[in-house]
Amino acid sequence: MESNREVFGSNLMAIFALAGSAIGLGNIWRFPYMVGQHGGAAFIIVYIVCTLFFSLPIFYCESLIGRKTGQSTIGAMRQLAPGSRWALIGIFTVLGPLLITSFYSVVGGWSFAYLLRSCFSSFGAMSHAEIGSMFAQFTGSVWGPVLAHTAFLLASAVIISAGVRRGIEAFTKYTLPPLMLLMVLLMAYSVSLPGARTGVEYLVKPDFSRLDAGAIAAAMGQSFFSLSLGIGTVLTYASYMGKKDNIVSTGAWTAVFDLGFALIAGFVVMPAVFAAGLEPQAGPGLVFETLPFIFADMGASAPLLSKVVTITFFLSVLLAALTSEISMYEVCTAYLVEERGMARKKATLLVFFVAWTIGVACAVFTKVFSFCDFVSSNILMTLGALAFSLFVGWRMKKAAVEAELTNDGSLPGNRTVFKVFYFLTRYIVPVGIAIIFLSNFISL
Ligand code: TRP
Repeated sequence: MESNREVFGSNLMAIFALAGSAIGLGNIWRFPYMVGQHGGAAFIIVYIVCTLFFSLPIFYCESLIGRKTGQSTIGAMRQLAPGSRWALIGIFTVLGPLLITSFYSVVGGWSFAYLLRSCFSSFGAMSHAEIGSMFAQFTGSVWGPVLAHTAFLLASAVIISAGVRRGIEAFTKYTLPPLMLLMVLLMAYSVSLPGARTGVEYLVKPDFSRLDAGAIAAAMGQSFFSLSLGIGTVLTYASYMGKKDNIVSTGAWTAVFDLGFALIAGFVVMPAVFAAGLEPQAGPGLVFETLPFIFADMGASAPLLSKVVTITFFLSVLLAALTSEISMYEVCTAYLVEERGMARKKATLLVFFVAWTIGVACAVFTKVFSFCDFVSSNILMTLGALAFSLFVGWRMKKAAVEAELTNDGSLPGNRTVFKVFYFLTRYIVPVGIAIIFLSNFISL
């Protein structure tokens, strides 16, 4: 283990960092449109079940490996299974974060561009036709998305180069609380809109007839994505946790924050969508295409309020995206520092150039964007999660797993959680993951 390795300031700071990683575009952008596409409340129920029975165990698998070894993925595998092929998990945990960092930065760039747009011009002054073509026009152009992606990635690089304590911890500590507050304010606004009731009902009254196998696979995939699983993000952050920190409660809090935030985002987006008489099934464009209609209509009667709400919304998206982006960026950086002996600043710079180049390709060519998204979310993350669960369930010694989750027995309350966790990890999780993995290809 490296002697000069940084550690988070406290258990609370570890929760902040992990929640910052979990809460992101996955919650504000992806979750609401998935709910819209898969039928509302019923999807949410499946999502919660998946989080409890699949995602949380995988979260624990990654955390316990990271905290036990105090190393990033490849080093951790080498330490726990010397001379074996388990270090090959590194393929998922180097390639995965690199690809996600790249295309995530493009979407982060969109939110940055929309924030600028909402500061300097008004959606209220635009016609419906203009708003309708705005997203396609923006993402179809070259300079705007590329510059926005560059700015977003640069901001992440600055935070990462400052290190774990002064970069990641400091940034999430000051970002997460205002982010929560902004979203709660937006939610209060959205549910109070005339006509919002149908949107609220859509989120709380389940209609199980719309729930098919595809929706269940989507709920599981979304839950993995939202908790940042499968590519070593949680593992790497957990490697910066203190030996006295409680892995079980940290994971539980992270999941609660992440879930709470996704639900809040749902209550921001859906009531507004229904209040404006729009369709919830708009897909990935829901936040960037549909919401501006609402901001525009509002702007016609209350320009100042519309501006404040619009800026608040896109600022929230941007901040949430940044705290997640840095968590993937850190995985790549930690690999270069720990496995390749690079200085942190140099590693940050190298990741910047590679991710920038892939990101530019994603920003310009939709096909590259979808390819990176598909390969990382549907293949690398899923196989990575499977590998982590098999490693903890079948390769590590049971006693070692229990010792890590209970801090060598000093947290006896965690023993019950361990028992349930261990059973799920050995038998239920791998089967579930294998099913969603295969369903990706059947639905192609
Ligand atoms: N969880 C983040 C979100 O919801 C995205 C993210 C960060 C992520 N790190 C990850 C997704 C690792 C998958 C794997 O937006």
